[in-house]
Amino acid sequence: MAIRNIREIGDKVLTKVSKEVKEVDNKLLVLIDDMLDTLYNADGVGLAAPQVGILKRVVVIDVSEEGDEPIILINPEIIESSGSQVGNEGCLSVPGKVGTVERPNYVKVKAYDVNMKEFIVEGHELLARALCHEIDHLNGVLYVEKAIDGIRSIYDIEEQEDN
Ligand code: NI
Repeated sequence: MAIRNIREIGDKVLTKVSKEVKEVDNKLLVLIDDMLDTLYNADGVGLAAPQVGILKRVVVIDVSEEGDEPIILINPEIIESSGSQVGNEGCLSVPGKVGTVERPNYVKVKAYDVNMKEFIVEGHELLARALCHEIDHLNGVLYVEKAIDGIRSIYDIEEQEDN
């Protein structure tokens, strides 16, 4: 278990398409453990493998309250989506920034667990947003490309809220 270095915007690895996982070996299990450590250390909601420099289709998400299990998704794929939500989004690879992004309000995702067993996860609102955001990472897409009116500093928002 170790905290890995989070790659930041401008790093080419974040623009590449990640490869499908064919089998879960020990190296991949270590990667997943490290991704969870890195996610919690950074106090994030989700992390995709390319954000730690590994071009494999692996995502970890934890939008839950304390005590719940994180969601580990291997080769995730959106198979259904509906509705729309417009809201603020941030990314551990774009520190200190936030942007407004439109996402589906509901998604149904097919993925594989660490035993390469297929499962389905359905998400509304924040989880739907996180699933879309992290799967975009696997395709080399950062939210900043989708942000309506560009990205802002989180400090600007804090100032606005103080007023
Ligand atoms: Ni991100």
